[in-house]
Amino acid sequence: MDKITLENILEPISLQNFFQNYWGKKHLVIRRNKYKNLFTWEDLDNYLNRYPNIKSLQIIEGTDKTKDGRWCLDKILKGKLKLPLYSKDTIYDFWKNKNKTFVIPFAEYEKQDLVDACFEFEKYFGHGQVNVYASPNANSKSFPAHADATENFLFHTEGKTKWTIYKEFTPDKPETVIDEFVLEPGDLLYIPSYMYHKVDTIGPRILLSIHFANKPDQTLDSFKITPYSQNKRSKWYNWAPYKKIKVVKKVQHVKSNKSNWSKPYFKESK
Ligand SMILES: [Fe+2]
Repeated sequence: MDKITLENILEPISLQNFFQNYWGKKHLVIRRNKYKNLFTWEDLDNYLNRYPNIKSLQIIEGTDKTKDGRWCLDKILKGKLKLPLYSKDTIYDFWKNKNKTFVIPFAEYEKQDLVDACFEFEKYFGHGQVNVYASPNANSKSFPAHADATENFLFHTEGKTKWTIYKEFTPDKPETVIDEFVLEPGDLLYIPSYMYHKVDTIGPRILLSIHFANKPDQTLDSFKITPYSQNKRSKWYNWAPYKKIKVVKKVQHVKSNKSNWSKPYFKESK
């Protein structure tokens, strides 16, 4: 996988081109077949198999009682949402047979690559978050058209997703469609904050929303870049103990001799 730098993420669009012509102004689609390993079906398997011992899980359109149509594991565990703690079998049934979209919020520490991506984006933007959106099939229920208060970078890693972009920064319900497209694994979509958009699932898919608030007072004229050392985000540590490299002594085989089996059949080389 390419090193996670904003230059590589936006390639072939240069950083200067991006910030001058797209940032806060218009959406951008980059088809470059990169970063497909950021979160795969295998990663989803590993995450969901830990249920219910996972930090968080949201299921879109859990029940009618959920205000925004989301069943939230962490809110139920904290007693903020009076809904049942579903069994793992039920969660699997939601996925396999009921075609629900699953959301993994705060996924930035699921993999080092995601933390690396956050550190990289946070040079240019404020503190960020990673959400993983996974759907098992076409026509899985997703959010209606909405706008987010953050700068949104959508990394598509598995399957295809249809996107509809509405006229920018509409204060009311958006109506005017300005763009429609289907994104595939390796594609990137940038959506400026407050731009209305809608997602339709057209098959099994995983996409990552890596989103950030803008730094206060960040402008093209006085553009601030935060170095890695000044980022307050907690680091990713490699916890595996240091392994000493074993020096393997070369062995020299000695021809076996049927009548001589009791003798050592190899000796150390000098
Ligand atoms: Fe959104």
